[in-house]
Amino acid sequence: MDDVPEIQVLPHASRPIPADQVVALYGAEGWWPERSAGQVVMVLDAFPAAGAWRGDRLVGFARCVSDGVLRAYIEDVVVAPDVRGLGVGRALVAAIVEQLQPIPVVSLFCDPGLVPFYEQAGFRPTRHVVLHRLAST
Ligand SMILES: CC(C)(COP(=O)(O)OP(=O)(O)OC[C@H]1O[C@@H](n2cnc3c(N)ncnc32)[C@H](O)[C@@H]1OP(=O)(O)O)[C@@H](O)C(=O)NCCC(=O)NCCS
Repeated sequence: MDDVPEIQVLPHASRPIPADQVVALYGAEGWWPERSAGQVVMVLDAFPAAGAWRGDRLVGFARCVSDGVLRAYIEDVVVAPDVRGLGVGRALVAAIVEQLQPIPVVSLFCDPGLVPFYEQAGFRPTRHVVLHRLAST
């Protein structure tokens, strides 16, 4: 008998996402060791996000940065390694895109190998180059 709970993808507004579980997902990917749970709480309060849940465990996360009217950027799409390939990433991106309706332009940046993943959700590459300015330490 299969007693593993199904995975549910829900907006943060429907099921609040605990910041410590987001930090754990980042950690599993080697991302953002400098980010604190307190910073994640502030981000979750400010912009739409979505969580993928297997029971009480957060197994996936995605969020965005948005002006709420004209432009939005999807950030931090991540799925726990043991549940990849099950459609969770696709569902997370869809959940964020839905929360961003009717913003006319939604953008993201990613490694070249992930372009097919995002193309499935309707994103198309452009010839723009992403520039970052890092705060000096
Ligand atoms: C990228 C990631 C979020 C995908 O999540 P996932 O739950 O495994 O993806 P899904 O199961 O929803 O896959 C949806 C589709 O995208 C494809 N896909 C998934 N990962 C892919 C990858 N790395 N490269 C190309 N295609 C990919 C799948 O094959 C699937 O296509 P199919 O329906 O034709 O089989 C996940 O692999 C991950 O967390 N990676 C590490 C973090 C990362 O790089 N995040 C992206 C930051 S921009």
